[in-house]
Amino acid sequence: MIRFDETHAFLKEDFDAYQEAVNRCHAMLMNKSGKGNDYVGWVEWPNTYDKEEFARIKKRAAWIRENCDVFLVCGIGGSYLGARAAIEMINGLYPSQKPEIIFIGNTFSSTYIAQVLRYIEGKRAVVNVISKSGTTTETALAFRLLKQYMEKTYGKEEAAKRIVATTDHAKGTLKQIADREGYDTYTIPDDIGGRFSVMTAVGLLPIAVAGIDIDELMTGVQAAYADLSDPDLHHNPAYRYAVARRMLQNAGKDVEMLVTYELQMTSFGEWWKQLFGESEGKEGKGILPHSATFSTDLHSLGQFVQEGKKVLFETVINVSKPSEDLIFPSDEENMDQMNYLSGKNLHWVNQMAAKGTLEAHVETGKVPNLLIEIPDMSAHSFGYLIYFFFRAIGMTSYLIDVNPFNQPGVEVYKKNMFRLLGKQ
Ligand code: PA5
Repeated sequence: MIRFDETHAFLKEDFDAYQEAVNRCHAMLMNKSGKGNDYVGWVEWPNTYDKEEFARIKKRAAWIRENCDVFLVCGIGGSYLGARAAIEMINGLYPSQKPEIIFIGNTFSSTYIAQVLRYIEGKRAVVNVISKSGTTTETALAFRLLKQYMEKTYGKEEAAKRIVATTDHAKGTLKQIADREGYDTYTIPDDIGGRFSVMTAVGLLPIAVAGIDIDELMTGVQAAYADLSDPDLHHNPAYRYAVARRMLQNAGKDVEMLVTYELQMTSFGEWWKQLFGESEGKEGKGILPHSATFSTDLHSLGQFVQEGKKVLFETVINVSKPSEDLIFPSDEENMDQMNYLSGKNLHWVNQMAAKGTLEAHVETGKVPNLLIEIPDMSAHSFGYLIYFFFRAIGMTSYLIDVNPFNQPGVEVYKKNMFRLLGKQ
């Protein structure tokens, strides 16, 4: 399903030398015996997910699709990045279907929040507030404004029907509010952290509201589970990728740039950055995750990749079959001198750009490239790909003895901000 190719990465170490460590880390993930073992519920989630809640999500999504024009996803970090990545990758950036999905609760920008509140005026709105802790300030701030807007616009009773909460099953401020107001609620499992939660109600409800087949998405997740449960580095591309990253860092590459050639996968890069950065970047260790969309960013970052400091490697996701294609037309006058492409598929042009870039970056620029090939941008492929990266980050972090499932460093800015804001 996923083809992983490390032959353009100048790797000097031998994969077999890592097999023993990989077996050990694999056992830690599977037996829940490694660091952060309270948060490895995602490993078995493809088999254990709550089927009753899943059915409820589908039903609720169908109701929302009928009864709203704008669906506001109010969350930050793992509470929105996965849904956004899926919706954009699968539906594209300008989908024709309703409702329109708007992301909020991920910023303190007064301009952005005010503009969203103005934009939704006069449109039928439904809000999905998502927070595992239930106390995240960006989300809580936006939600208070949205709650007041909804109650003013629809009255308290109708507003309560139009607000859905996804949070902890028992604790937290958001859970208390949801219970008191009688909101429909969905659960973030205790043992799945935010950035691993896109395959739970956190991601599934918004994704289903966008009209995407979440059964198909879960089939992709399950296929990845089946394919990636053998620790053998000759059979497991996720673990092979995890090891290749370690080899590249040993060779002095401290930055990884995730590259796609599809604009609608730009948010996928944002999701991946959170997953990898927050999981691995601690104790002075880790690879800095960066992302880019080519060929767009070849006209900005391309220069650095080609000739700048040799700190990075690229991990390139290639999509075999585009969601749509066009044939380039011919033009009698050919004033733009583009007739050499007449009759060619645009996807073929994109692929040739990728091929030429690979050659330029690897052969001329000596930038190591890891290649990941996915068949298409379907819900199935999305499900497969996220689980591939979950397994990879679990493995690659355990290989450097890091707990991938906490984020203690995030607290430092919060502490300072709360002091400045005068929070008791
Ligand atoms: O991965 C994580 O756990 C975090 O990045 C969270 O997703 C993020 O901080 C949002 O937290 P919460 O869902 O508790 O509001």
